[in-house]
This record gives sequence, C-alpha cells and structure tokens, in this order.
Amino acid sequence: MRVTLSHIKADIGGYVGHSTSHPAILELASKGLQKAKDSGMLIDFHVTACGDDLQLIMTHQKGEDNQEIHKMAWDIFMDGTRLAQELKLYGAGQDLLADTFSGNVKGMGPGVAEMEIEERPSEPVLIFMADKTSAGAWNLPLYKMFADPFNTAGLVISPVMNGGYAFEVVDVKEGLKITFNCPDELYEMLVFIGSPSRFMVRAVYHRATGEVGSVSSTQRLAFIAGRYVGKDDPVCIVRSQGNFPAVGEVLEPFANPHIVEGWMRGSHHGPLMPVAVKDANPSRFDGPPRVTCLGFQLANGKLVGPVDMFDDPSFDEARRQANEMGYYLRRHGPFEPHRLPLDEMEYTTMPEVMKKLEGRFEKA
Ligand code: F6R
Ligand code: MG
Ligand code: MG
Repeated sequence: MRVTLSHIKADIGGYVGHSTSHPAILELASKGLQKAKDSGMLIDFHVTACGDDLQLIMTHQKGEDNQEIHKMAWDIFMDGTRLAQELKLYGAGQDLLADTFSGNVKGMGPGVAEMEIEERPSEPVLIFMADKTSAGAWNLPLYKMFADPFNTAGLVISPVMNGGYAFEVVDVKEGLKITFNCPDELYEMLVFIGSPSRFMVRAVYHRATGEVGSVSSTQRLAFIAGRYVGKDDPVCIVRSQGNFPAVGEVLEPFANPHIVEGWMRGSHHGPLMPVAVKDANPSRFDGPPRVTCLGFQLANGKLVGPVDMFDDPSFDEARRQANEMGYYLRRHGPFEPHRLPLDEMEYTTMPEVMKKLEGRFEKA
C-alpha cells in the first residue's frame, strides 16, 4: 500500500515568550485534523509541539506536495494564529509569511518534510523535531546513521545495508542540489555537509533499492523572507529497520549532544539536547536547543503510537553533558564561538552600529 507521511509545522505563537506552545492551540489543531480524518482526506494524524512550534503529523494517500493537504494545514495555522492573537501569545503567526494560500505551503513559512512510501510489512518510523536551531542540525546525525560504521553496525554486518546510501544535499543559499553516493563519495560530501549553515541533507536513499530512508525540512525562513523571521526549527523523518538503520542506530547519534546554531536570538551556538516531549520547553537563555523524537509503527497508514523515544534514562548522560557544554559556552557571553560569526547572525545591530560610528574608522 502506498502511503504519504506529511509533517508540516510552524511557530504560530509562543507561550510564554518563545519557550513552549499553548494547549488550546494544540487542541484547535487536533480538532481541525480530526475533521480532515472524518472527511476521509487523512488516514491518521498526531499533533504535538516542540518548544514554540506546532507540529502536524499526517498520513494520507494523496502524494507529496498535495494542494488539498497543504491548504488544510495552512488553514489550521491561520485559525491557530487567530486564537494565538486572542490569547496574545508571543509572536502570533510569526512563521506565516503570506496572507493567502498559493498552492503549496513551501516557501510560505511553515517547515515541511514529506515522503511517499510503499508501506513495508512492518514500518517503524522515527520523527525528529528540533527547536532553536536550523535544518543543518540534522547533517551530523544523518551522516552517522547512514554512513558511519562506528555508529551503525549494520553498515558492516548487514548485507542489505553495505551497498550504502545516497545523500541528497541542498545548497540553501544558491538553491542548488547534488546527490552523493556513499561510501564512495564520503569525503567529497563531508566538505559540504560539514558546513551545515549552508549545505543541508534533504533526503537519504537506500542505494540498492532506491527506497527513501529519510527526509528533512530544509526551508530557511531567513532566506525566504530576506530578513530575520525566526529559526527554521526543523523536522526529519527516518525509516528504520530492514534496509535502514535499526531504531537504536537511528537514535545513537543524539547520545552525543553536538553543537548547533540557533540558541538565543538565532545568534548563538549551543548543544542539541535530546529530551522527552514534556521537557521540550527551552527556557535557559531561550535554550539550549532541543530535539525530540516520536516513534510510530505504520499500519496501513495508521499511526500506531507514539513512543516518546528520548524519554529514556539512557539519554540522561547526554542531557547532563549538554548542560555542562551549555554552561561552558555561556561563559563566553558575546564572544565567538558561542556567538555566531557576524554574517550568520540572524539578528545583528551591525548596520546601526556602523552608522553611529560613521567616519570614526581611519586607516590603521
Ligand atoms: C526564538 C528565539 C528567541 C528569540 C528571543 C528574542 O525562536 O530563538 O531566542 O529570538 O526571545 O525574541 P523577540 O525578538 O521576539 O523579542
Ligand atoms: Mg517563536
Ligand atoms: Mg521555535
């Protein structure tokens, strides 16, 4: 059976500040999606939040980039924005960059990750959601999952996996994409994906069969809007087991809290802390950046689950390390590398400061 998994998300208002989402918004979204399910448009859905981002997880049979599905999600975000305005939530409608829907939510502000698949006899799916960071945050974990034998034993041990995976990488600045066949082109690929603010892994495919293994949202709100409008706060869907890494191999990269961009005002580096959904409320210095993961089994498109995958004591040490790294980085205050390089800061007072100091810079 062919099933499309569509994940569409947006920050339509934070509670309190940019820290979390208001329960009334989640309830409104669930009601909207229930209506779509009752009408037969959706097979199933799950609504959740990661920090201040509302997450709509949906299954259907209409394929990717479907206008009806995207419009329905857009309408829920618009209704949610009206409620957010009533409650005077913070930054109501902040990710909605257009006034009217024009066929597809891509480029209109919301983040989108979609995959149309032939559902396997058993189809475990892991959905990652992050707050206070950008889609480049998935580069390192995706590399580890699908290309690093020190992380994924299956690359060495499983005959169905050692043919490798193909990585589709997007240059979000130039709007270009390229596919690297790994392990053959691993070194070439690392030149690019090691620079995650510009090059982002959009999808990963099992080379022997061409099956899609992972898709991530790679919309860069800053580039879409041409100015700062909030962090992308990306999502990533990963299929697991069989031709793909085991659940434990998919989760393993997050045991090492790597440094990502996006903390406070989108302008600081910080560790990506893996947490249970209930703990995805970035509060300390608006962070540190969080990642959650919900696991589902698909059953003819039905979302059996979720299991809150990071709600597990085996990630306590990663959380402890992330706190330690967070405290260490915070002591750098306004200095790099805690603060992002000037040209990458989402907010910068540089032009105003330069204007104020006009004529004061002389030849040194
Ligand atoms: C939002 C974020 C926050 C805000 C900060 C300032 O995702 O990362 O750190 O950038 O709270 O927010 P404003 O400018 O809305 O007052
Ligand atoms: Mg916000
Ligand atoms: Mg957010």
